[in-house]
Amino acid sequence: MPATWTKSDWRNKPRIQMPEYTDPAALKRVEEKLATYPPLVFAGEARRLTRQLGEVAEGRAFLLQGGDCAESFEEFNADLIRDTFKVMLQMAIVLTFGAKKPVVKIGRMAGQFAKPRSADTETIGGVELPSYRGDIINGFEFTPEARIPAPDRMLEAYTQSAASLNLLRAFSQGGFADIKRVHQWTLDSTKETGGYEEYHELANRIGESLAFIESAGAGDAESMKRVSFYTSHEALLLEYEEALCRVDSTSDLPVAGSGHMLWIGDRTRQLDGAHVEFCRGVQNPIGMKCGPTIEPDDLIRLIDKLNPENTAGRLTLIARFGQGNVDKHLPALIRAVEREGKKVVWSCDPMHGNTIKSESGYKTRPFERVLGEVREFFAVHQAEGTYAGGVHFEMTGKDVTECTGGTRAVADGDLSDRYHTACDPRLNATQALELSFLVAKELQKREEA
Ligand code: PEP
Ligand code: CO
Repeated sequence: MPATWTKSDWRNKPRIQMPEYTDPAALKRVEEKLATYPPLVFAGEARRLTRQLGEVAEGRAFLLQGGDCAESFEEFNADLIRDTFKVMLQMAIVLTFGAKKPVVKIGRMAGQFAKPRSADTETIGGVELPSYRGDIINGFEFTPEARIPAPDRMLEAYTQSAASLNLLRAFSQGGFADIKRVHQWTLDSTKETGGYEEYHELANRIGESLAFIESAGAGDAESMKRVSFYTSHEALLLEYEEALCRVDSTSDLPVAGSGHMLWIGDRTRQLDGAHVEFCRGVQNPIGMKCGPTIEPDDLIRLIDKLNPENTAGRLTLIARFGQGNVDKHLPALIRAVEREGKKVVWSCDPMHGNTIKSESGYKTRPFERVLGEVREFFAVHQAEGTYAGGVHFEMTGKDVTECTGGTRAVADGDLSDRYHTACDPRLNATQALELSFLVAKELQKREEA
């Protein structure tokens, strides 16, 4: 880590995509309070995740990162967390079978509350108001009061993150994620779909294998009863990140206490910007979104800044170009990374480059385009001889109708049925499971190639 870095240095850099709080005294009170609160995650966990992502970088594991575009204060409840966790477990099992490798599981959960926006304002029915920037910053409701950034929201975000993480820890360590319960992770909403059938066949095969292993006297391994599950969010609101940053007593190095992995969004990855400045100094694994405007030289400079020691697992590049655009951008980036000998995880976010406005007016993402981008991502890596290391999805265990397509097809006209997202459209459980089978087929092809 850079020797001279301090957690406040980002304040001397250009501040973009962050709110201008109108009451500095109130902001200060919240920051001081948060600074006394316990961190949500610990440095040892962050280091373990870096090591596991290092395995991904070296081609020995695969990454699944997924969850809400924006978590919402209002939607916060135990069932929702449980259901999204269940779907991720199912997806991970499917991907493990395809990849024949361990799958590192990271939720966009327990802290994914701040949103960058393309436009500063939103106009509805002739009324123009500041954009919604995530529940940690302002309110979704379309009123002038709700849209004022309120520092107190950081405390609520902290509380909800702590409670979500507590539940996730219990689910992953307390028996719920025991591989023997593989049948019980299915959600009612996924029944009567192709993905469900396929999943049950797979679950049966796992059950048989477990029975065999047990009868051979090798079963009941403790490691089969628990999973490692990590949290992540976009490190956008730096007042919050700074207030939860701690110096770890074992390594004497700074660690972001707000989540295991932090990522830098496509809009805030300026080499000399505040977000890169904050992230470069914490020891957590860092993700960086790479959209169509990133140039190979910039990428290398960013890598040098974020991962000067070239540690495998420290940096995950999350490509999000949009279907039809991957081979215009990704090969040059991969070649630059290879030429410079940089160790990175390459992951594919097939969501953010594929958002369109539907005929009914909703923002949506066609399933076919999402799948299309994943396939292009794999094909480019295959052609370059590099390792497609993971996928990054916006998804939920809730039975929403936000993305079109999939076998239990959501049509344009269905979007209004259960369109609940506070920000971008998410895959529902059926679509997420189906997609993971299709990704698993790509992984299998790679294994057999
Ligand atoms: C997101 O992940 O929700 C997001 C805003 O992504 P990006 O920075 O890639 O646009
Ligand atoms: Co999003």
